[in-house]
Amino acid sequence: MALNPQYRISRPPGLLIALAILPNLCLTSLSDILPAESEILLRFKATLSNQAALSSWNETRPPCPTGNWVGVHCVDNNVRGLRLQNLGLKGKFKVDVLKDLKGLRTVSIMGNQLEGEFPDFRVLGALKNVYVSDNKFSGVIQADAFRGMISMKKFHAARNRFNGSIPESLVHLPRLKELRLENNKFSGHIPNFEQKNLTVFNVSHNELEGQIPARLVKFNETSFLGNYYLCGGPMGACRASWLRLPVVICVAIAVAAVITIVAALVILRRRKKRKALSAMSPGNTILMTSSSTSSSVTSDLDMLEHGHPSKSRMMPSLSTRRKSHAHNNSTPKLTFLRDDGHSFGLSDLLSASAEILGSGVLGSTYKAVMNNGSSAVMVVKKFAKMNEVGREEFQEHMRWLGKLSHPNILPLVAYYYRKEEKLLVFDYVANVSLAVHLHGGGKKLDWPKRLKIIKGVARGLQYLYNELPSLIAPHGHLKSANVVLNEEWEPQLTDYALSRIVNQEDTQDLMIAYKSPEYKQLGRISKKTDVWSLGMLILEILTGRFPANMIQQGKGVADNAELATWVETLVRENENWKNKVFDRDMMTDINGVGEEEHQEMLKLLKIGLACCEMDVEKRLDIKEAVERIEDVKGP
Ligand SMILES: *[C@@H]1O[C@H](CO)[C@@H](O)[C@H](O)[C@H]1NC(C)=O
Ligand SMILES: *[C@@H]1O[C@H](CO)[C@@H](O)[C@H](O)[C@H]1NC(C)=O
Ligand SMILES: *[C@@H]1O[C@H](CO)[C@@H](O)[C@H](O)[C@H]1NC(C)=O
Ligand SMILES: *[C@@H]1O[C@H](CO)[C@@H](O)[C@H](O)[C@H]1NC(C)=O
Ligand SMILES: *[C@@H]1O[C@H](CO)[C@@H](O)[C@H](O)[C@H]1NC(C)=O
Repeated sequence: MALNPQYRISRPPGLLIALAILPNLCLTSLSDILPAESEILLRFKATLSNQAALSSWNETRPPCPTGNWVGVHCVDNNVRGLRLQNLGLKGKFKVDVLKDLKGLRTVSIMGNQLEGEFPDFRVLGALKNVYVSDNKFSGVIQADAFRGMISMKKFHAARNRFNGSIPESLVHLPRLKELRLENNKFSGHIPNFEQKNLTVFNVSHNELEGQIPARLVKFNETSFLGNYYLCGGPMGACRASWLRLPVVICVAIAVAAVITIVAALVILRRRKKRKALSAMSPGNTILMTSSSTSSSVTSDLDMLEHGHPSKSRMMPSLSTRRKSHAHNNSTPKLTFLRDDGHSFGLSDLLSASAEILGSGVLGSTYKAVMNNGSSAVMVVKKFAKMNEVGREEFQEHMRWLGKLSHPNILPLVAYYYRKEEKLLVFDYVANVSLAVHLHGGGKKLDWPKRLKIIKGVARGLQYLYNELPSLIAPHGHLKSANVVLNEEWEPQLTDYALSRIVNQEDTQDLMIAYKSPEYKQLGRISKKTDVWSLGMLILEILTGRFPANMIQQGKGVADNAELATWVETLVRENENWKNKVFDRDMMTDINGVGEEEHQEMLKLLKIGLACCEMDVEKRLDIKEAVERIEDVKGP
């Protein structure tokens, strides 16, 4: 057995001489010189403040080779491993005491209550496996904590209270295979791990930020979840952070946004005139390019103006010019996603009588009544901002959406793909959108209806979270205009799960998820972003007010939370806040709302505010939100 140089230096001079004159030192005489392994282990036992579980460790018999000491693993006459899991060990872990166990390769102290700083395992430089998960270790692990430990293969330190950076020296361990650091408070960036053999990697539920290093993007999102500021790879693209942009650029963007809005307004006014004109000519097909320059300002207002559907006959579709073009290439065809006995084709759809129901930021919505004898009524959505997505990816996504089935999700029936334009065909619902009823002179909604709507929306959203776990924001565009109501006032979500097929630039400009505080502040959305949208919707339903961000775009972070801030301020500062906060239509409708109902409204208001929490960490997650909403009692 070769002598370890470290060992030589650490011995007293007398011993060095003894070693020098005994060049062929054999194992037995070495054991004679070193403190017996039993002595080392008993000394170690004495350092623990709770030794009950180690009663089998006593002098009457040595630990090796028989191995009757609990947790002591021997190979021949040497201690090779200490496997002290779940023994209720308490106190500090004094690894120093073990430094003369030269054969030790594995130390596991998982599942105890050991505390204090991270032990300095470098005194056992030949260790291969170190497991300290599920203890109460805390503080920073020094950057060089693993320096020189080139045999290290597995390091597990999950569920402790470590903070500070992930130690850089881990990056230089050539054989590292497993690294588990989940559920600590590690912060900063993930170091640049490049080990090819690293196959188990988990840093979820820490406070890490920044880009995931290239070699690690092969791990799936479960390795990274719970770090709201991490991005890249499975966590979605990194966006430029508004906070880090120089002020000058921000100002420039703000000015540009104002100019765009003004321009959009002007263009829209003109276009509306044009629409009106062309709608007059008989048997027309109308060129209705979705307002590519419109911002959400104009389109949401537009939607309101169309609250009472105009009775003109309109084509939800392609211009005559475009149609002939399409015929030249291939036969355009409608693809059905479910077998609901619908009997119409693209030509039926194109010649159907159509009313415009609304025009949102991503496209326009029509009610189409087939003239083919079936009199089927469908909702057709026309999207123009999906021209970056390839045909196969689009079709794949549609098949995926076609499988969704839930009472609170408006089912997608069919689609039509063309490079410049996509049609999505849905079942028809009678009571148009929630936005119309809240803001556009639809029927007044009383408290029971509003509560029913919120519960339905929450259930639909939770369903999307369950069914589409790979989407960071499974809905991505939740707002009152995208909640439609059927005859029983059961809400159904529309425009869900589109972020993957909408042009990237447009998702960021137009979709509600990208108006969340976390996107504005940190440049990325999170698994709780849709909860924020749900919170805004709850506040909108209770107050009857339009969330500020839909009317005023392109301003600062504060505007996004304006509705939430307004409610909070009123509740805090105004004695008469109940009458000011809650929508009068809801309060007067049942002629004197009772105290109990007041309490339930208040409960829902608080849930709404908790969902709008700017700090993502503190915000409710979808599960908590839905549970609390289900708890609110109707009259
Ligand atoms: C030593 O361990 C044995 C069991 O392995 C036990 O029976 C005995 O009482 C122990 N002796 C002492 C002094 O703890
Ligand atoms: C780590 O946590 C301790 C308290 O447990 C704190 O004093 C220290 O500042 C933290 N260090 C870092 C780098 O976060
Ligand atoms: C990586 O793993 C392979 C197969 O287990 C092994 O042969 C190789 O030596 C390892 N590389 C390093 C650097 O440990
Ligand atoms: C993520 O990876 C782990 C381990 O590689 C695997 O067990 C798990 O099923 C994967 N999860 C998903 C959602 O792909
Ligand atoms: C990472 O740890 C989290 C939290 O314990 C767990 O949910 C997840 O499945 C783990 N992922 C992998 C790939 O080990």
